Amino acid sequence: MKIVVIQGPNLNMLGVREQQIYGGMKLEQIHAQMKDVAEKNGIEIEFFQSNLEGEMVDKIQECYGEAQGLIINPAAYTHTSIAIRDAISAVAIPTIEVHISNIHRREEFRQKSMIAPVCASTLVGFGPFGYHLAMLGMIQIFNEVKAMQEAQKAQQAAQA
Ligand code: DQA
Repeated sequence: MKIVVIQGPNLNMLGVREQQIYGGMKLEQIHAQMKDVAEKNGIEIEFFQSNLEGEMVDKIQECYGEAQGLIINPAAYTHTSIAIRDAISAVAIPTIEVHISNIHRREEFRQKSMIAPVCASTLVGFGPFGYHLAMLGMIQIFNEVKAMQEAQKAQQAAQA
């Protein structure tokens, strides 16, 4: 099983940018913690950050047939990008959206996510810990998918 983590614009500035909102952890530290959880659960993980919308769309498309789960913080593109939403919808890979801050408590323009309707779940306002919760959520999704596939197989075997 493979998870791809996609980080949008300005998230490479974590630890520097608006620490009162986003905290003091750097992106590399967040990713190191996620890698640790992945390794302990036998999951492959890849990290990608871009400041460009088209590069994020390309990356999502590349995940088709390669990854079984996406964890994405589209950052500012959350509120504008139909292209990222369509890409997630197109690849149909279970996706968890993460926001470090609680976007619903912030400016009005941040309160709408174009991405949420195509995601399995959205986590907001937990700070960097939200990424850890997303890992746990994705493991739960993997377990549910596995249980469903096994039940289907057992049903097919019983019918044969
Ligand atoms: C963010 C919230 C967005 O509104 C903002 O543009 C970001 C970060 C968050 O993680 O809280 O860059 O996605």
